[in-house]
Amino acid sequence: MPLFTLLCLTLPPSCYTTPSLVHRHGLPTRPLKTSVASRSSLPACTSPEPSPFLSPAGTCAVIVTKSGTCRSLVANLAAANHFTKSHLEIAENKALMEKANFYYISGFFLTVSPESILMVGEHACENNKVFCMNLSAPFLCEFFKDPMMKAFPYIDILFGNETEAAKFAEIHEFGTTDVKDIALKTAALPKKNSKRERIVVFTQGAEDIIVARGGKITQFPVVRLPTEKLIDTNGAGDAFVGGKLSRVTEVE
Ligand SMILES: *[C@@H]1O[C@H](CO)[C@@H](O)[C@H](O)[C@H]1NC(C)=O
Ligand SMILES: *[C@@H]1O[C@H](CO)[C@@H](O)[C@H](O)[C@H]1NC(C)=O
Repeated sequence: MPLFTLLCLTLPPSCYTTPSLVHRHGLPTRPLKTSVASRSSLPACTSPEPSPFLSPAGTCAVIVTKSGTCRSLVANLAAANHFTKSHLEIAENKALMEKANFYYISGFFLTVSPESILMVGEHACENNKVFCMNLSAPFLCEFFKDPMMKAFPYIDILFGNETEAAKFAEIHEFGTTDVKDIALKTAALPKKNSKRERIVVFTQGAEDIIVARGGKITQFPVVRLPTEKLIDTNGAGDAFVGGKLSRVTEVE
């Protein structure tokens, strides 16, 4: 089942760093690639002029400390910052988008091209396909609230972690700090495609994963990794989402 994603363009490219390299040297030793072509198994999209792919690829410096549990990133988004809706409107790219049955867009993309998100969301909604997003960072819930809430009615599956959930609840005045209550309230926000109920998935580090669906909460325990086996948590959340989406695309 084809999955179309725009996350690749906006993620701090930390997930590219080779964990062992980062661990040993603290910093990646070579520039990291962020283009769709290099990251995705989908065919590369064609670009209009000026092309985001004519801009240099993004780079990211990562410092990992405390035995892999803490990290600091400084990202230069470069090409990732130049995506526009016109890129999606090119027939060849639009065809790729329309061919997919599942969509996943990172919240970071709200800072680049919210119009592109709406275009994909509308397409998914009209065709009863699965549209997923990630809160991605507390600052997006706060400072990109308006574009986020325009996209929100299209979201079938929402990912986020506990700090993002807390900020989302605060901004929307949910009047609760309980992650389960926040998940239920978030799932119940207005939704365009009534044929699918919204699923909200909140991770909490090593604590249980909270899933809200149909007014009910399900908790999933996390398999704990012994500290000595932990090298680097870079990209762990993205790997989690990847795993979940691979199941979703299989089951649907
Ligand atoms: C949750 O996400 C924020 C960024 O949005 C990150 O700073 C924080 O470390 C994450 N929490 C955990 C437990 O991974
Ligand atoms: C997306 O969601 C997961 C699960 O909450 C989180 O750990 C991860 O950091 C998020 N990543 C991005 C780039 O949005």
